[in-house]
Amino acid sequence: MSPRGWRRLVTALLAVLLAAAAWWGWQAWLARQDRVVQAFIAGHWAQPLAPQGKAPANWSALEASLEPQSCGQCHAQQFADWSTSLHSRAVGPGLRWQLRTFEPAQANQCLNCHAPLAEQKALTALEHGWPNAPAASAPAFVGAQLHRQGLVCAACHVRAHQRFGPPGVVAPSASQPHGGYVAAAGFSDSRFCSSCHQFPPDGRRVNGKLVEDTYEEWRVSPYAKEGRSCQSCHMPGRRHLWRGVHDASMVDAALGRELRVQRLDATRIRVSAVMRNRGAGHRLPTYLVPKIRVELHLYGERPADHLRLGHHVIGRTVDVALERELADTRLAPGEQQAISFETAVPAGAWRVVLRTVVAPAEHYERMFAEMDRRHPEFDVTTRNLLHEARSAAEAARFTLPDLTLAVPAAAGAQASAQASAPASAVAN
Ligand code: HEC
Ligand code: HEC
Ligand code: HEC
Ligand code: HEC
Ligand code: HEC
Repeated sequence: MSPRGWRRLVTALLAVLLAAAAWWGWQAWLARQDRVVQAFIAGHWAQPLAPQGKAPANWSALEASLEPQSCGQCHAQQFADWSTSLHSRAVGPGLRWQLRTFEPAQANQCLNCHAPLAEQKALTALEHGWPNAPAASAPAFVGAQLHRQGLVCAACHVRAHQRFGPPGVVAPSASQPHGGYVAAAGFSDSRFCSSCHQFPPDGRRVNGKLVEDTYEEWRVSPYAKEGRSCQSCHMPGRRHLWRGVHDASMVDAALGRELRVQRLDATRIRVSAVMRNRGAGHRLPTYLVPKIRVELHLYGERPADHLRLGHHVIGRTVDVALERELADTRLAPGEQQAISFETAVPAGAWRVVLRTVVAPAEHYERMFAEMDRRHPEFDVTTRNLLHEARSAAEAARFTLPDLTLAVPAAAGAQASAQASAPASAVAN
């Protein structure tokens, strides 16, 4: 090879080596960031959470307070949003009647996710007269109702009185109220949510599948590869909304629905519906509690002209003892299911309707009803809470806007020989 050829070869080799080194460096940096995030989240959510300890002596009562209302004095938007979210209601009647029937150790397991601060657990123990209740009265920075306020700001943001948050627009500084904050990238990572929205591998399983597997469902979905975190959908613009299956617009956005009707001959039609998970970053729905019921109806001109064609339930149905799985028809991201019925239609103007009924707490509707029947020994307070929880579970049901399509008319003799092209209506 000529000296020039050699030079070219060496230059090319060097370029390849440099690119490889840069790539390797980038990967190593990413892996390091990932370890930092992983370690932060593991430490931040190590259960049980430690008591905050003494508040710094130079702090005002407002700065030291763990009350969400106190945080709200300065973080008004987060407080307003949080107050509308289910996180603020995580200690509702559905949890409270059960706590009254549990041993403290089992109850504290529930509280790890529903009201995780040590100060909340202490107040709960006092309320129930459990042996683990503290002898001393609560410190001044703990309000008397903190244990009823569910997943409070401090549960996610405060450890040993130190505030933690995502790297913000305003850089941390010790001159800020509550001595500033520690910026932690882990707040924007899906693993931040997994401490409560994912059971560990040895957690409760039914039919071999974990009872709660949301983070894993997300991790294997295209959203994880695109870098779309739980926060990107449930906290858009960092808003503290956490809307989910209890919210009609979220379910409407997640569930693609398509209705088609096709005339087969002079008397018969075929009606079909396709349902697709087009917007949930995990199974739709992810938990075994909610059910989505898709119904097909046929309506004529008079109110009496009504025929139910059939229905399909999307969800994971498990018995109330969490022992047997009866069905699992949840939709993985992008997955679709179709149902189809053939039927005769009398003469006249008819329309088909696709109705969607969402029962966000279906499993609890059944479970609370059964517990009510099975436990005549419950005291009045427990029973009242149970009834309240049952009513709330039933009242959470809602219906999405119907999809409607006119049945194509039978066009005389010719139509009976030839099937029509399907007339179709598509949701949204
Ligand atoms: C379930 C845990 C959780 C609870 C409860 C919670 N937060 Fe947050 N908060 C987060 C997460 C996660 C982020 C970062 C979101 C992101 O990066 O997309 C955040 C971000 C913030 C930020 C930074 C906002 C910004 O725009 O940069 C503030 C301030 C904040 N939270 C205050 C509060 C207050 C006040 C409350 C109670 C009213 C509260 N948080 C309740 C998890 C929580
Ligand atoms: C400390 C535990 C905990 C953490 C951390 C947590 N959650 Fe939750 N989350 C809960 C509990 C408990 C509920 C149920 C509240 C209720 O209805 O009683 C809930 C409810 C929800 C819901 C509403 C579900 C519905 O049925 O509509 C969404 C959405 C949600 N969380 C998303 C998130 C996201 C996203 C994160 C991470 C930024 C997160 N959560 C972090 C415990 C937690
Ligand atoms: C690993 C975290 C975790 C633990 C432990 C946990 N929960 Fe929950 N719980 C949740 C989440 C998350 C939801 C929201 C369900 C969803 O994903 O839609 C929830 C929802 C509920 C609801 C329905 C909402 C409501 O307020 O009516 C009840 C009731 C409930 N849990 C009771 C309990 C009881 C009782 C225990 C203890 C035996 C318990 N939970 C333990 C995370 C947890
Ligand atoms: C007296 C007013 C005041 C009170 C009370 C207060 N904060 Fe703050 N907080 C601030 C200011 C000012 C900052 C500085 C940066 C900013 O505005 O985000 C800050 C920063 C934060 C951050 C970091 C924001 C980010 O960008 O990551 C978090 C998280 C936070 N506070 C949470 C809380 C929580 C939780 C409480 C209640 C337990 C609380 N704060 C009470 C004034 C307050
Ligand atoms: C691409 C957007 C998207 C992403 C990413 C996403 N979700 Fe959701 N999530 C939704 C939508 C839409 C719903 C409402 C429909 C439903 O229930 O699946 C929902 C519902 C929920 C619910 C309600 C309970 C249920 O049974 O459906 C919980 C809890 C939840 N998400 C938690 C999470 C957690 C935790 C992560 C991250 C591991 C996450 N989500 C990632 C869009 C998303």
